[in-house]
Amino acid sequence: MTTAYAAAVDHWYAAHARDLPWRRPDATPWSILVSEVMLQQTPVSRVLPAHAAWLERWPDPAALAAASAADAVRQWDRLGYPRRALRLHASAGRITTRYGGEVPAAADELRSLPGVGAYTAAAVASFAFGKRHAVLDTNVRRVLARVIAGTDRPARTPTVAEWRLAEQLLPADGRLAARWSVGVMELGALVCTATRPRCHQCPLAAHCAWLQRGQPAGPTRQASPGYHGTDRHCRGQLLAVLRAAVGPVPADALALAWPDAMQRLRALAGLIDDGLVTQTADGSLALPGEAARRG
Ligand code: ADE
Repeated sequence: MTTAYAAAVDHWYAAHARDLPWRRPDATPWSILVSEVMLQQTPVSRVLPAHAAWLERWPDPAALAAASAADAVRQWDRLGYPRRALRLHASAGRITTRYGGEVPAAADELRSLPGVGAYTAAAVASFAFGKRHAVLDTNVRRVLARVIAGTDRPARTPTVAEWRLAEQLLPADGRLAARWSVGVMELGALVCTATRPRCHQCPLAAHCAWLQRGQPAGPTRQASPGYHGTDRHCRGQLLAVLRAAVGPVPADALALAWPDAMQRLRALAGLIDDGLVTQTADGSLALPGEAARRG
């Protein structure tokens, strides 16, 4: 049965997959690692230009390690969740000093890098090195929940049973396992979508338990809060001011960017806590390592 699934997905993938730079045969492990970190919380369309610019500027880990953390945060620009820039910079340093500048191939070594969790470690080990690991992102989880378990969507976080099932479904060969994973991921992104599944286009429709059950809806979940006016929005605005500046910015300039003082101070405290912003002796604010530069 697993073989039939894999063949059907492979066939569909060959005809319908998007041509993304990190999936090309010549993509380096570094390009794949950068893409996976960017894709953790940002959609493909926004990652594409940012990934190209990042790789152009820092084609390997040593190049990024030689740059400053502030440069990394600036280059991250508006991809969101900018702690990822700091962690990628720290990872580049670790790869350079500890692994001779080569992204490690083993999932447990990848997992030891800052900002690399179980998902990202498995994705890089699989896609860059052909290691046999289950790659369980939200799209893969939804496809497996529907096809195998017959439910509209999976639990909020992956369970041990889900990991085991995903591993059982992997083809035995590591390279084929990687093709299966990226194929299922793409199927979840383009066909087996959360709100509007296109079951008539699905290569697994004949095997899908959810379709056979008449596509029962899952329990409704509370909508996630919007972005506008949230603390995340405030952090983004403040960081945008600091990125645009050369050196420290007076606190008053930030007050113009976000007038609500309580929220601004809370967001600033969070940014300082996360190491994304530092404060100078006179109370000005700057990107990390830039407190001494003159504005
Ligand atoms: N291809 C490989 N990894 C991916 C990801 N995380 N999201 C979208 N496409 C991908």
